[in-house]
Amino acid sequence: QEDKFKKVVSHAKEYGYVFQSSEIYDGLSAVYDYAQNGVELKKNIRDYWWKAMVQMHDNIVGLDAAIFMHPTTWKASGHVDAFSDPLIDNKDSKKRYRADVLIEDYVGKLDAKIEKEVKKAAKRFGDSFDKAQFLETNPRVLGYKEKGDAILQRMGQSLEKEDLADVKALIEELGIGCPLSGSKNWTDVKQFNLMFGTKLGASADTAMDLYLRPETAQGIFVNFLNVQKSGRMKIPFGIAQTGKAFRNEIVARQFIFRMREFEQMEMQFFVRPGTQKEWYEQWKETRLKWHLSLGMGEDNYRFHDHDKLAHYADAAADIEFKFPFGFKELEGIHSRTDFDLKAHEEHSGKKLQYFDPEINERYIPYVVETSIGLDRMFLAVFSNSLQEEELENGTTRTVLKLPAVLAPTKAAILPLVKKDGLPEVAKKIVEDLKWDFNVAYDEKDAVGRRYRRQDAAGTPYCITVDHDTLNDDSVTIRHRDTMEQQRVKISELKALIKEEVDV
Ligand code: GAP
Repeated sequence: QEDKFKKVVSHAKEYGYVFQSSEIYDGLSAVYDYAQNGVELKKNIRDYWWKAMVQMHDNIVGLDAAIFMHPTTWKASGHVDAFSDPLIDNKDSKKRYRADVLIEDYVGKLDAKIEKEVKKAAKRFGDSFDKAQFLETNPRVLGYKEKGDAILQRMGQSLEKEDLADVKALIEELGIGCPLSGSKNWTDVKQFNLMFGTKLGASADTAMDLYLRPETAQGIFVNFLNVQKSGRMKIPFGIAQTGKAFRNEIVARQFIFRMREFEQMEMQFFVRPGTQKEWYEQWKETRLKWHLSLGMGEDNYRFHDHDKLAHYADAAADIEFKFPFGFKELEGIHSRTDFDLKAHEEHSGKKLQYFDPEINERYIPYVVETSIGLDRMFLAVFSNSLQEEELENGTTRTVLKLPAVLAPTKAAILPLVKKDGLPEVAKKIVEDLKWDFNVAYDEKDAVGRRYRRQDAAGTPYCITVDHDTLNDDSVTIRHRDTMEQQRVKISELKALIKEEVDV
């Protein structure tokens, strides 16, 4: 699995998808740049989301709020006081850790031990193995489980300030997470706010302290009434937005999975109080369908319903995806109650209420939010698409089986040879198709090598111009995934590709 992940990272670089930011200066950790193909894939994912969420819903409209917001926004939203990670430093190794991650990793190791016992027993007992019964009766398994539960319980609902001393004691007691295992040389646990600060204004006395937004959602909340009034929106309705968000993440070692600068695609759906549970369930279903529509395998997704809820939520679930390093959160669906709008009312002194003509009542709407990281979706698509296939002739091919609708380049046009007028015909096809799709022209190397290059870059179609083309106006179209080839008229190309790559 780790191997697969390394391949994903190196393939993303080699084929112009993702580069480390400022690489010539040895990079900046957890910050990445999207290269010539990456920027197209990212744009296509964003467009696919926007089309499904905004264009296809007549009660959802878009917004592009600024990254800078009035600083009181973050006081009201709770980010100034509560958007932090508990950190602990080991004085011997001089390494910094997230206390909750240390403990959760430890519990994860206990879970892995349980899995190992299950596997061993399954092998020993064969067909007669009853997993459920084994989990409930095996003393070793029960021991691990009890220990894990006790640790999580002690960690509390969330790592609140007053619990932090206990968290430190727990880490010392378990002797975890440090190369100097069992080390007791830890600092106290401190809350570390994840927002990046900056200043607005030139003079030191008058400059205003600002934050780079850690989520796009607040731009939607503060504009709620402006949009509702100017768009004459009726509840239920939604506001959707994509844009950059910034978090000073501590544990940021998983390529574009967890970044310090990233992009979110969020939608806040405003509903009548009391109806939020229904909408929450509906949005869970709608969002899962959106994911499944890309055809990346039903088994790669699962819901994780939260037991622990954030201070603003009355229900929350993640859509998890099977990344090369296991199932992890890809998207969150949160029933946020009226927490945010109410808080902004209180802090701004401005009413943020809606008059509902159907029931003749004025109220602060409840909000159901869907929130997905664009970069994380990129990683899901990219890692799932990257495959190595054994071919019949014993060779392997690397192929990036991106859903055609998301592929950066839809077709590559290849003259079989660099002479006899074939390049001219190929270039004419490029000129025709480029009005509708991103297409590439490639005349270098033998055609087989060019096919492989396009396979690895994720191009769904290769169109080859050969000598017969000069007589019959036909070309060969080769399909990336099946490697099947088909002879078609040049005049049919556009419709044929359109059918596959259009949403
Ligand atoms: N407005 C709600 C909100 O921001 P979140 O669970 O903190 O909720 C939503 O973030 C989504 O944003 C996550 O499911 C994930 O896909 C993405 N995301 C969050 N932090 C990220 C990071 N550091 N790097 C990349 N994506 C991130």
